[in-house]
Amino acid sequence: MTIQEVLSNHPKKNLSFTPTPFQKLENISRDFNCNLYCKRDDLTGFAFGGNKVRKMEYLIADAIEKQADTIVTSGAYQSNFCRVTAAAGALAGLDVHLVLGGKKGPQITGNYLLINRLGAHIHKVKSDEWDDRENKRVSLAEELRKQGRNVYEMPIGGSVPIGALGYVAAFYELLDDFKRLDISPSHIIFASSSGGTHAGLLVGKWLSGWKGQITGIGAAKTGGKLAVEVGALAKETAALFNASFTRDDIIIDDEYVGKAYGVPTKECEEAIQYFAYKEGIFLDRVYSGKAAAGVLDYIQKEKVNRKEAVVFIHTGGNVELFA
Ligand SMILES: Cc1ncc(COP(=O)(O)O)c(C=O)c1O
Repeated sequence: MTIQEVLSNHPKKNLSFTPTPFQKLENISRDFNCNLYCKRDDLTGFAFGGNKVRKMEYLIADAIEKQADTIVTSGAYQSNFCRVTAAAGALAGLDVHLVLGGKKGPQITGNYLLINRLGAHIHKVKSDEWDDRENKRVSLAEELRKQGRNVYEMPIGGSVPIGALGYVAAFYELLDDFKRLDISPSHIIFASSSGGTHAGLLVGKWLSGWKGQITGIGAAKTGGKLAVEVGALAKETAALFNASFTRDDIIIDDEYVGKAYGVPTKECEEAIQYFAYKEGIFLDRVYSGKAAAGVLDYIQKEKVNRKEAVVFIHTGGNVELFA
């Protein structure tokens, strides 16, 4: 069975403009005498784009197939996933309930501004803890079910096997990009947080037999905790394809998180400025900026071979710049 045949067993609602562009970062490559390429998943298009759109295409289709009338998910006030969920739910005519949290109350800016425009029901939790939001999501879903709603729950970041399918497909899109440009990258690097992007890419690697390295730059948790989560999700996703699972392939680098999730680092701010100035590409302060700081550090410290092609996936999130 081909990957396309397996993926076609899962319903998908087309939301994105794919394939997304794939470009060589000419100025940065010249500065560092390296070969850096960028997969522009910031440009998936739907509702300001980003990596969450690829996951949502499978999640919302699954919700529709299960005849859900209500979606419940959770995140931070500036959650990219909640923005995309609110838009996809509205498009499908479903009620969207978002459990949003933070010790500080929200400011009506960035993603939170857009979420408000999309008419989602917002439930606030005064906590920075992911678990507090998730617990509230579970109890809210229960409450809504008691009211007779057919609820479809999406865990944080849409990181369940159905959501990860979006990045299995994206991996094959990348292989097409490599073929078109006649390159053989040694490394794919991107921001990892709830693990769905990472798990999907790994399953793509295992299915295709690609030999390069996939590295997630942690944006939230410690590498050990995230590796366990990515491992569990990758294993479950691989099972959908009868693909073999290789724990050694799970590589997470948490060197670039800084003080905490969402707290920008000096290197991240510098990477944002540098990418904007050199390539006209805007990164964000929570995910892609930290990942890009990692990529630049890898190049500077020769942790990647400058002669080989290296791919940075821009996972989006730049709405946050207006927060
Ligand atoms: C812009 C952006 N990049 C990267 C990530 C990380 O993706 P994942 O949650 O699939 O690990 C997220 C979401 O958490 C995101 O919003």
